[in-house]
Amino acid sequence: MRLSLRWKLTLSYLLVISVLILVLGGLLLHAWNVLGPMFPAVAPAVWRRLELMLLTAVGLAVLVAFFLGVKLASDISNPLEEVTRAARRLAQGDFSVHLRRESRDEIGELAAAFAHMSETLKAKLEEIAAAKSRLEAVLRYTVSGLVLLDTRGRVMMMNPAAEKLFGLSAEAAVGRHHIEVIRDYHLSAAIGEAKEKRCVVSREVNLLYPEERTVQAYVAPVWETDEITGLIVVFHDITELRRLERLRTEFVASVSHELRTPLTAIRGFSETLLNGALEDRAAAEHFLRIIDDEARRLSALIDDLLDLSRLELKRANLNIVTFALGPLVESIATSLKPRLEKAELRLEIALSEPDLSVQGDKDRIRQVLLNLLDNSIKYTPPGGRITVRAVRQGETVQVEVEDTGRGIPPEDLGRIFERFYRVDKARSRGDGGTGLGLAIVKHIVELHGGRVWATSRLGKGTTISFTLPAGKPLT
Ligand SMILES: Nc1ncnc2c1ncn2[C@@H]1O[C@H](COP(=O)(O)OP(=O)(O)O)[C@@H](O)[C@H]1O
Ligand SMILES: [Mg+2]
Repeated sequence: MRLSLRWKLTLSYLLVISVLILVLGGLLLHAWNVLGPMFPAVAPAVWRRLELMLLTAVGLAVLVAFFLGVKLASDISNPLEEVTRAARRLAQGDFSVHLRRESRDEIGELAAAFAHMSETLKAKLEEIAAAKSRLEAVLRYTVSGLVLLDTRGRVMMMNPAAEKLFGLSAEAAVGRHHIEVIRDYHLSAAIGEAKEKRCVVSREVNLLYPEERTVQAYVAPVWETDEITGLIVVFHDITELRRLERLRTEFVASVSHELRTPLTAIRGFSETLLNGALEDRAAAEHFLRIIDDEARRLSALIDDLLDLSRLELKRANLNIVTFALGPLVESIATSLKPRLEKAELRLEIALSEPDLSVQGDKDRIRQVLLNLLDNSIKYTPPGGRITVRAVRQGETVQVEVEDTGRGIPPEDLGRIFERFYRVDKARSRGDGGTGLGLAIVKHIVELHGGRVWATSRLGKGTTISFTLPAGKPLT
């Protein structure tokens, strides 16, 4: 039976009223019963029957009213209880509740409205959760450090990049004043300034703890309508940028210095010649030879510099082929024969397999071997021995140039691959070295995906080793 609440209540009233009428009727009849003898015309038996009928009717009416009342009451209270239970579960965050929407009365409508509300609430909460997780992902994966401060300057939030930058976990930082976390006076001043001037303040800051870093910090006030509710501080790590800038400046300084040395010699000797040395033919020839040497050095230096910059910009297009190492080393040995003889040095070639092959740019590998052999010849005293060795190790081939020369002091060993680094500056220059040979070697090997390293014993000899991808077996 689908009755509206109003009808149910109306029915209940009707029932109550009908019961009242019946009870009244009963009382009236009873009164009549008492008054009966006053009306002898009506037989007592008839009176009694009337009384019995009325009593039965009253009894039945009370029973019916009772059961109907119970039914109506439960019809009203059951759905209400269900809605209350559902509301409680909803308050505890359980969105799985489903209300039956059987009755079409106000309670049914209430249940429907409630279900709608719970669905909307669920959708809204899901939206909020999704937005939150998106924001968290952004914060977690941004490389810039991010710190959110409240108006009193206390940390409210910090992302992993900031944790790393300040060497502090977010849990430890949240709730603490920024000066305790960031530990830099200039940054704190910038935060104060952004709050006071109500604008974005940017500053370059050097952090000392947990490691030395240079960061560019941007402090921005966070607005809500007209009020500042906090500050957001973004940190860009520019340590690497500053390091590269410094390297570039240093490089320009070294290049200028390296170029000036031969130029000074050229100018000095040409001036001497102009000032009269030309008359002395022998001296003039000697000076001109020096000028020629220095000019050659200058041009070698420029060639090496250009080569190095091409390699560093990765513009050098490698022409990778598979080739046999043996013939290449032999041809280099032949070309170096006069120099080796003059320096009284022996060159030995030891390949683990006669047709050992590698993958690489043949001309560039020739340049690597020539640079290494040139060093060995320069830095090995007469009577010494130079060995070119190559061993296949799985996917790579390890090549070594070993000499019995003067060796490299351990403290210099790590730096010889740097540009212009020379153990004995004056001596290397005198030998016509540019200080760029090993830097070029390193670049070429690394462009081939290999590694280069040096081992040495002072006074005993040096070994420079490098790896190259092994050649694919010819099938
Ligand atoms: N085989 C070697 N024996 C001793 N010292 C070496 C050897 N190879 C390189 N070095 C040291 O490393 C420095 C850098 O080498 P390199 O870059 O080729 O420059 P350069 O040969 O022009 O001086 C050399 O100046 C020298 O001091
Ligand atoms: Mg060299």
